[in-house]
Amino acid sequence: MKNLLLPIVITAIANTTLAAPGTGTRPLALPTPVTDADYRADASPAKVELGRMLFFDKVLSGNRNISCATCHHPTLGTSDAMALSFGEGARGLGLDRRPGATASEAVHERVPRNSPALFNLGAREYTTMFHDGRVEEDDQGFYEGGFITPAKWKLPRGLDNVLAAQAMFPVTSPTEMAGQQGENEIANAKAANKAGGPEGVWELLAQRLRGIPEYVALFREAYPGEVESAGDVTFVRAANAIAAFEATAFRSDDSPFDRHLRGEGELDAAARRGMELFYGKASCTDCHAGKFQTDHGFHAIAMPQIGPGKSDGWDSGYWSTTGQKAFPEDHGRGRVTARAEDRYRFRTPSLRNVELTGPWGHAGSYSTLEDVLRHHVDPVRSLEEYDAGEAPLAPLERVLEITADGSELRQSWLSPKRFEGFRKRDTWVQTNPTLRAAIAGANELEPVALTDGEVGDLVAFLESLTDPRARDLSNEVPGSVPSGLPVED
Ligand code: HEC
Ligand code: HEC
Repeated sequence: MKNLLLPIVITAIANTTLAAPGTGTRPLALPTPVTDADYRADASPAKVELGRMLFFDKVLSGNRNISCATCHHPTLGTSDAMALSFGEGARGLGLDRRPGATASEAVHERVPRNSPALFNLGAREYTTMFHDGRVEEDDQGFYEGGFITPAKWKLPRGLDNVLAAQAMFPVTSPTEMAGQQGENEIANAKAANKAGGPEGVWELLAQRLRGIPEYVALFREAYPGEVESAGDVTFVRAANAIAAFEATAFRSDDSPFDRHLRGEGELDAAARRGMELFYGKASCTDCHAGKFQTDHGFHAIAMPQIGPGKSDGWDSGYWSTTGQKAFPEDHGRGRVTARAEDRYRFRTPSLRNVELTGPWGHAGSYSTLEDVLRHHVDPVRSLEEYDAGEAPLAPLERVLEITADGSELRQSWLSPKRFEGFRKRDTWVQTNPTLRAAIAGANELEPVALTDGEVGDLVAFLESLTDPRARDLSNEVPGSVPSGLPVED
């Protein structure tokens, strides 16, 4: 199959070929350079500026204590440097972020997946969002809103693109931004299963924004002729502006590799050898294909599962050991399609700026690029050898739980014994031979023989994918936001 495709690829990239050593004269199938035409049309500066304010404004979280930027910070590679984020409640940024010892600074669980980087998501070829692709463009015309999402038919119309559709969801997640039932009106709406509609999360957030005159002014500038007064402010328009900001601020296509593709510079020797491996015998482009080094497909590569999981897969062993909710797995794409063959498949990540976005993998299980590469060399063995006790998870010392006492909701810290059981979730899948074997059994990535030197060369190539500007995007961080809430965490 690979051989059948090769000639087509080569003719498409004829202007950027070079001979790969060890493969005779066969040229490397390098992608053509990224150009403006690869991205959706530019949004107006006013719309981008509105989006920038919203991206950094904690007013979009139920308890007004976390913004999008907390987990996607411009100074942290548009991620947060953590394997698994602490969502609303916790304080601090990046590796300093911790839950506190009071109820208002508590968390109820870790966020179950690694916070991905947001580079180049304004490119047209991105039609799928999230590690499992649960938000995607609907090219079948099934949903009137234009996107297949967890909100199904309830997703409002008028969203500009798939990135805007994605921005509808973090605000509805209790762990990420909304908070817990009983704490605020947003969380209560979510608990009542209302996202859309007049009493839903999105309308309640729009009401908050309507009450802030500076936002109304920014919405008017961003949407001339559409927004005249506060009543025209909607969360869909907020989401469209956030997407415009993300697409503009986080476009990143000026790495040494990009310059090389444009014929504007050479890679250093190690990176060049790595590139030859990547586009040659290491077969990375079986999945990391195309201009952004992703086929946007879903593949099972036996990546170790750490953290609480996505509540998939009943496990009676966990239940009998801890007496607690016992769905410790993350079935990845399988939880979206409900097909057994999609279990443990996750979306191929783009590799631009990958050096800046660790820890790596959908659960952040590897904390060096070399380790995640070595995983690719022999996935099943790497999974077997992975020590979940050494996983790069930030310490979590206590969690709050909500219990219903008649009609009253009560928040209480887990007792030491129950907390011990709760903590076992972080390593449960990886230390359970049956669950680990299921992940290994789904693996599609064939081992590839690479010497230590070749792994080093591949790391050098991955580092040549860093756009120097992406190392410090602190100029995107506003000094203040319209709600007056602090920008820093
Ligand atoms: C508590 C941390 C947290 C906060 C706050 C947060 N995110 Fe995320 N974000 C994540 C995680 C984790 C994922 C991956 C979830 C998954 O795949 O299931 C994600 C995924 C995304 C993606 C998909 C990227 C891709 O390549 O598929 C985008 C875009 C995004 N977030 C934007 C936002 C925006 C906009 C906001 C604010 C409205 C926001 N995030 C708030 C943690 C966070
Ligand atoms: C069979 C498809 C496939 C092949 C071949 C493949 N990868 Fe991957 N790669 C993936 C998937 C899928 C992930 C994410 C898996 C997850 O998170 O569970 C990934 C993750 C990565 C990551 C971590 C990125 C991040 O943001 O977490 C790096 C780096 C990487 N691959 C580099 C490579 C290199 C270099 C090669 C060639 C040696 C390669 N990959 C070959 C599918 C593949």
